[in-house]
Amino acid sequence: CRTRHYKFNVVLRNKTRLCHTKPIVTVNGKFPGPTLYAREGDNVVVKVTNHVQYNITIHWHGVRQLRTGWYDGPAYITQCPIQTGQSYVYNFTLTGQRGTLLWHAHILWLRATVHGAIVILPKLNVPYPFPKPDKEVVVILGEWWNSDVEAVINTAMQAGVAPNVSDAHTINSYPGPLSNCSSEGGFTIPVESGKTYMLRIINAALNEELFFKVAGHSLTVVEVDAIYTKPFKTNTLLITPGQTTNVLLTADQGSGKYLLATSPFMDTPVPVDNATGTAILHYTGTLATSATTFTNPPPVNATPVATSFTVGLRSLNSKAFPANVPLTVDHSLFFTVGMGINPCSTCANATRAVSAVNNVSFVMPTTALLQAHYFKISGVFTEDFPGNPLIPFNYTGTPPTNLQTMNGTRLYRLPYNSSVQVVLQDTSVLAPENHPIHLHGFNFFAVGRGLGNFNQSTDPANFNLVDPIERNTIGVPKGGWTAIRFRADNPGVWFLHCHLEVHTTWGLKMAFVVDNGKGPNESLIPPPSDLPVC
Ligand code: C2O
Repeated sequence: CRTRHYKFNVVLRNKTRLCHTKPIVTVNGKFPGPTLYAREGDNVVVKVTNHVQYNITIHWHGVRQLRTGWYDGPAYITQCPIQTGQSYVYNFTLTGQRGTLLWHAHILWLRATVHGAIVILPKLNVPYPFPKPDKEVVVILGEWWNSDVEAVINTAMQAGVAPNVSDAHTINSYPGPLSNCSSEGGFTIPVESGKTYMLRIINAALNEELFFKVAGHSLTVVEVDAIYTKPFKTNTLLITPGQTTNVLLTADQGSGKYLLATSPFMDTPVPVDNATGTAILHYTGTLATSATTFTNPPPVNATPVATSFTVGLRSLNSKAFPANVPLTVDHSLFFTVGMGINPCSTCANATRAVSAVNNVSFVMPTTALLQAHYFKISGVFTEDFPGNPLIPFNYTGTPPTNLQTMNGTRLYRLPYNSSVQVVLQDTSVLAPENHPIHLHGFNFFAVGRGLGNFNQSTDPANFNLVDPIERNTIGVPKGGWTAIRFRADNPGVWFLHCHLEVHTTWGLKMAFVVDNGKGPNESLIPPPSDLPVC
């Protein structure tokens, strides 16, 4: 194992997309940002220096951060932000993970442009559990906003206003050859006939789950969220914000140019950026001027396509990579996720949209929760997050019977190494909607999924405890539920939230506090001396 050193300088840089030039926040002037390469077991050291007027933090999305919560990155959860002119050195080890993850800013909506790939190769001389691809390519799906993204978040916080949607979907930051400004260029993957390519695909978009297709080629999923899967062949991928998917693609069409396409999945009548982001798969020897074979992405509300992809994934669960699903449950939790009604009917922004978990709309603290926890600073958070809805109701009824929310910075406390089950239940408050829920600090197993209200007496009998997919971000289906299990083997404070940034902004988030264990290597490490202060 080695140590990999990186320097991330956060700087403004002018970029032109959709014929609009504007300064955006970048890492090292790159958009998307630099790819971080390492092997399983390596130590990664990244010095982040902030040269912009915004406060910044970087989150290593999906990295377990075993006992190193100080380097996880969500602002005001595990650290105070890095202020203008300041630096912070993130220092963590990649344990038990191999595949693709992403890093992104974790403050305001800066991750719209501040993001990049994390490529974790297997340990030296350890092969992939699938045929070695001839070449690997990082493919980052994202969005382009003509307006200032920070202005969009401000509209989201105003009364009765739905925030703007993005202006284009992008592949490696380009809207691509179908856009009106296609002369700006786009991303091209050169391929040789007969060779196999591994695409490391990341959804770095703020607010949209995305479909992904390649004209004329099928895709075999071999890994998601840095966990190997049983090979799963498909024509269309669904990737929610925060998720990553490695696929094998064999260049079996001989010659030609083929379109890569990404488009949104949204089966709820909310505003959506309907543009298709594109790129080109280009067989060597094919003239640049020759015609491209097109593909139509699924319609925006193609729920069956999304569902068949989601339910088709399984953990590899081989001898070398077993699925260690917790078979018993110490903490059985039930979280409603969805919209709510503003608790303050007399406030100026009384009609502003609110999201909540178990009717609690999370209020960001002004100092970091992990510091408050470690140094026992009182008054920052409470530990009374409800493990079950305070008043059970017909979650998916029309209209639902419980719209109320309360504000709070409430955490749920877990003893070290306890096994936890969380049923995530979407609600129909305002409208049922898909929610990609992300848990920091852990991978979890998605043991069950269904439509309607979760039924405690009949649904658990159908849980898959053998080879459920293991990941860090999972879509809770519209008007339905998803059950996850994980072992609380990582002491610290860990954020759980919807990875649609607009919902996070509105309060669809909470945090777990996990106690230290009694053993020698079961405690959160002490904070580093350069930990930013608020
Ligand atoms: Cu990728 Cu808390 O986020």
